Amino acid sequence: MLRGLVMCIVLSGIAAPALAANVFNGKEVFNRHCASCHGRSGEGIMPGMPNFTHGDRLFTKPDETLRESIRQGSGIMPGFSAILNDQDIQDVVAYLRSLL
Ligand code: HEC
Repeated sequence: MLRGLVMCIVLSGIAAPALAANVFNGKEVFNRHCASCHGRSGEGIMPGMPNFTHGDRLFTKPDETLRESIRQGSGIMPGFSAILNDQDIQDVVAYLRSLL
């Protein structure tokens, strides 16, 4: 039991760097898949879209909710679960937060 717990802590310590967000990859993902609608700088190209440079949605929703919206889609935004893996989605959310 205790050994299992120790292993768990050790393994999560090893896994953590692999799961750390990479903002540079997030920027590439954004420019390739998202900028056509959200604009290169994240302000949104149509009225009523979230302006990420003002923190729209970013202040009110936690990362997991934003990741779920990107996976499943939201409004007219298509879902990206077939195109992007979890790491890409985590990276792009980290990039959105860097636009503030
Ligand atoms: C076809 C245009 C389009 C594309 C492409 C697009 N989005 Fe969106 N996105 C929207 C619209 C429109 C909304 C607002 C939808 C709403 O109000 O629910 C939105 C909302 C969002 C939100 C807020 C979701 C929420 O829960 O409130 C996030 C985060 C987001 N987009 C990220 C992305 C990312 C990251 C990509 C690229 C992987 C992307 N979008 C690609 C149109 C798009």
